[in-house]
Amino acid sequence: MPERILIGVAWPYANGPIHLGHIAGCYLPADIFARYHRTAGNQVLMVSGSDQHGTPVTVRAEQEGVSPAEVAQRYHQEFLETWRRLGISFDLFTRTGTENHARVTHDIFLKLRERGYIYQRSMPLLFCPKDQRFLPDRYVVGVCPHCASDHARGDQCDECGKPLNATELVNPQCVFCATRPEVRDSEHFFLKLSAFNQQLLDWTAPQTHWRPNVYNFTRRYLAEGLHDRAITRDIEWGVSVPVEGWERKRIYVWFEAVIGYLSASIEWAERSGRPDTWKEFWQDPSCKSYNFIGKDNIPFHTIIWPAMLLGYGGLNLPYDVPANEFLSLESQQFSTSRNWAVWAPDYLERYAPDPLRYYLSANMPEAGDTDFSWREYLRRNNDELVATYGNLVHRVLTFTYRSFQGAVPEPGPQDALGSALLARSQEALQAVGGHIALCHFREAIRAAMALAQETNRYLDERAPWKTLREDRLTTATSLHTALTAIACLKQVLYPFLPFSSQTLHTLLGREGTPEAEGWRIIAPVPGQKLAKPQPLFLKLDDKVVEEETARLSRMA
Ligand code: MF3
Ligand code: ZN
Repeated sequence: MPERILIGVAWPYANGPIHLGHIAGCYLPADIFARYHRTAGNQVLMVSGSDQHGTPVTVRAEQEGVSPAEVAQRYHQEFLETWRRLGISFDLFTRTGTENHARVTHDIFLKLRERGYIYQRSMPLLFCPKDQRFLPDRYVVGVCPHCASDHARGDQCDECGKPLNATELVNPQCVFCATRPEVRDSEHFFLKLSAFNQQLLDWTAPQTHWRPNVYNFTRRYLAEGLHDRAITRDIEWGVSVPVEGWERKRIYVWFEAVIGYLSASIEWAERSGRPDTWKEFWQDPSCKSYNFIGKDNIPFHTIIWPAMLLGYGGLNLPYDVPANEFLSLESQQFSTSRNWAVWAPDYLERYAPDPLRYYLSANMPEAGDTDFSWREYLRRNNDELVATYGNLVHRVLTFTYRSFQGAVPEPGPQDALGSALLARSQEALQAVGGHIALCHFREAIRAAMALAQETNRYLDERAPWKTLREDRLTTATSLHTALTAIACLKQVLYPFLPFSSQTLHTLLGREGTPEAEGWRIIAPVPGQKLAKPQPLFLKLDDKVVEEETARLSRMA
């Protein structure tokens, strides 16, 4: 029975390019997961979009002296290009600026209000006397009341991950003019999170399949008790408040961005010409929905969005929220403001996508923070991807091509060594699929590469280049066996390395895509013409490390 799987990936703020930290944090794991499930024959819907609203975008626009719409549009286009070149295979990557999204947001807002889960009250807020305006969210910085970090923002502390109200900040400052704000009252709508505390405790308790960091963070947070939170802002950029007299305020960016998972599913269904199909992913309780996010987004996905869904009713809550931890860059935190980052568009100008996907998969910050370094990138590319996998494929393909007239040879009787490798290939297929389904991506790619190593050992032992002259049949058997293991590697590595698996698929003389072939091993058919071999990966020169490290420090 095919499963139905909804994959919602964090919506990137449209205020700057994607960097490697974002890719390792959520886009790559989501894509691996989606590609695996599609190949396994499951029905997948993977959605996300540009998070175009909120102060992250308006702050950037003010700094550049352009409109927020211009900033949002520019990065949205760039994101689409990044996904295409990196092979992040969204079924729909939309944006929060669509009419559809505003309509769905209004519907949820009004329904929650009708049910008493959204109410109005006046609250004290920070107001900059110099700029003569309220300072929502990122317009203010200060010291975190929970962990004493000195760069907490008005909406959240990045250090301890806790959402904040700006008035809780110690020593607050206006980000534009550094003036100490004063406190003024303003009318806002509140989401009654307190009403969901018990329901969320009951819902989260049995979610023991969640990663320990996600589970523990959420449980601790709920145990401390939920406070109602303001979901509107004194700002003019964002989704309107569907209530008369509220024209000068907007819905809080986080309240509407999480709704994007639903609105994007609805948009996808409309575009596909079957406008009701989104319901299969949201109303059928057998559909599992996953949210791939970075760890700073955990409370919005395990508490606030589930609370909104509980209040609204009739829609599935997330089944799993496999949040990754952080990736650092040469042992320092990625920082957009300090320009300490490898930006995806820059990377893709100079290198192929698969080596990056390989390194980030093998080194994914799944259970703890990990580091990206160019030295390690080079080593992983040269010593693992090229040496273990690329060379194996190239050796087998070129030798077969030359010795058997460019076609798959007819094998003779199988022996114990060959049978063992074929059995190992079947095991690897099951193991890799099993690990990916549990979101254990590092284990999965490790199991795939172990098969490549075993295939190398098989080949060294058989040494077909030595047996060709005196025993053509045994040689044919060895090569056919190796080609079968390679056909398996192409499939199990496809979720991680989609571009090179597609190339290899073609080199093996196959039509279509690895995805269409299914999560199985199809042994090469004797007589099948092979394409002229070409290497799957390039060995990188040592000077890449110096060049790239120099580029980093020049930019920073
Ligand atoms: N824009 C947010 C960020 O970059 C993520 C939003 S995720 C969603 O941290 F749930 F709101 F979609
Ligand atoms: Zn803090």
